[in-house]
Amino acid sequence: MLSTCYTFFTYFAIMIFVFGILCKVWKYAITPNPLKIPLTPAPTNAIGVIIRMIFDAALFKSLFNGNKFIWLGGCALHLALLIVVASHIRFFVSPVPEPIMLLQTFFQSIGVFIGLLFIAPIIYLFIRRVWVDRIRFVSIFADYFVLILLFCIGLSGITMKYFIRPDIVAVKTFIIGLISFAPEPMPTNPIFITHFTLILILLVYFPFSKLIHSFGIFFSPTRNQIDNPREKRHVNPWDKQ
Ligand code: HEM
Repeated sequence: MLSTCYTFFTYFAIMIFVFGILCKVWKYAITPNPLKIPLTPAPTNAIGVIIRMIFDAALFKSLFNGNKFIWLGGCALHLALLIVVASHIRFFVSPVPEPIMLLQTFFQSIGVFIGLLFIAPIIYLFIRRVWVDRIRFVSIFADYFVLILLFCIGLSGITMKYFIRPDIVAVKTFIIGLISFAPEPMPTNPIFITHFTLILILLVYFPFSKLIHSFGIFFSPTRNQIDNPREKRHVNPWDKQ
């Protein structure tokens, strides 16, 4: 019964996640840009815009210019997320690709505490939001909720890795069953069930949350516009008759 419910909710959550993101991206793509507002100094050609976008999206260059501490917290969180994703691939594919195995062995050998790297910046961002008056003033429930959700996902992951180990073979069988549309029973480890439930909540919540910034950044006119108002006249879409 539990497995059937989770199978249903998993497919449901994935559908909301995918369609939610597609709808948001579509909405961003068709939103007209009435003004030419690239953030100066801005690139004067398309290649330059792409390079700037890559630097902004991958290294958070604007954040670096604005606040070095938050930049450091953001980098640590996103790096940890990347490592977590890489180390989770083994649950999704069989056999596990050689590079992923090597990466796994590498992180284990240098003893990187991935879980802590993941939750430490979340704790920092949470404390900053509660502590700093002007940030607390502009914070709404959604800002706290997403941090708490990610924290709980990380905490349940760490608990599984270091304290209450789930049956990894059962986890893998369950996940591959879902991917191949041949559902298998859900592992009964309560921490795994918690981890998985929180991830389903994250999937459903993602398109409606501020986490959608990971897609939205590419549609930001201050970032994606070419600084060429003298060479090419920018016409307000509402003026095109
Ligand atoms: C269907 C998707 C997922 C499954 C089946 C899953 C399963 C697991 C399992 C079994 C562990 C224990 C790892 C081990 O024993 O080596 C774990 C750890 C962890 N998971 Fe997930 N997880 C999923 C998605 C996620 C997502 C989306 C995130 C982050 C947003 C996440 C964050 C973590 C973290 C931070 C750890 C601790 C890693 C460590 O300390 O090495 N998981 N997960």
